[in-house]
Amino acid sequence: MKLLLKAVTIASAIVATPVLAQTWTLDPEGSHLAYGSIKKDTVGEVNSFTGISGQVGSDGKADIKIDLSSVETNIDVRNERMIEYVFQKAGTASLTAQFDMAELSALSVGETTTVDVEAMLSLAGADVEFDTEMFVARLSETAVMVSTNDMVFISTEDAGVDAGIDKLMELADLPGITRTVPVTARLIFNLDDKKAEAEPAAAVATAAVSVEGDVKAGKKVFRKCSACHKLDEDRHTVGPSLYGIIGATAGQAEGFRFSKQLQESGIVWTPETLTTFLADPKGAVPGNKMQFRGLKKEADILNVIAYLRAETQG
Ligand code: HEC
Repeated sequence: MKLLLKAVTIASAIVATPVLAQTWTLDPEGSHLAYGSIKKDTVGEVNSFTGISGQVGSDGKADIKIDLSSVETNIDVRNERMIEYVFQKAGTASLTAQFDMAELSALSVGETTTVDVEAMLSLAGADVEFDTEMFVARLSETAVMVSTNDMVFISTEDAGVDAGIDKLMELADLPGITRTVPVTARLIFNLDDKKAEAEPAAAVATAAVSVEGDVKAGKKVFRKCSACHKLDEDRHTVGPSLYGIIGATAGQAEGFRFSKQLQESGIVWTPETLTTFLADPKGAVPGNKMQFRGLKKEADILNVIAYLRAETQG
């Protein structure tokens, strides 16, 4: 279960990608949360929960509910004992987590990464905090998969279920059940279909640029530009001043010798055109003389645009 938390957390991070700043909903069909136990040192079993639900908000806050009564041990009487003695009829366990999104915001469709996640599991009155590494794959514009990278071990004592396990041993006449439980999770999150259709990708991206770009992070990114660009008005160095660049027409700043290619491009610098240009300056305006190979991470671009706007245009 703890794993689940983490997974959710990670997913929230992904979800919070600037371009995807919306609520993501857990897909119970595609998701799987399981834990293992070993009895008498030799008999390994896998149990799972079929009833998991939850969301990750655009602020990166993950909130997942596990319906403890949905535990599946493949034996009815054992399910009942788990619910009664181990989970103490608690109903639901909740997993909450807050993710630092900057780390994952650059993930594009088809890309994968691993992230460190901190989360908290609340089960039958006990709160367990844990850290783990999660594997994240961006399946499509509207789907993200988060899974445990390794098994996560949870102490039954920390989770407050030791007494219940004693009871199970007694009932099943077992000499031993392991007191640390390996947990694995695969969680799939989908962007709300209707929302995704209602807002074309470009519109979402634009909104994200103006709303989600992180000025502080953008200031760091700007170090890559500052060798050639100053932000003071009319202060041109290797490159033109970027004062008031958003909304300006390309290649028009007075006192700087632009290339013909840029000067005659007719581009108006909006978050969209800047995004295209900064991702691949040479490809976007062939023959321009900015000697910079571009910013690979979309988040860096969004953040540097936010910084340019904040610094010179309020
Ligand atoms: C190695 C120097 C260099 C670096 C690094 C560099 N630029 Fe440039 N940039 C230039 C030059 C030179 C031009 C003018 C290109 C031309 O006239 O063809 C330019 C042009 C631009 C323009 C168009 C300005 C206008 O008035 O139309 C923008 C926007 C821009 N750069 C943004 C950036 C950002 C943001 C970064 C950092 C992520 C960056 N540049 C990094 C040298 C650089």
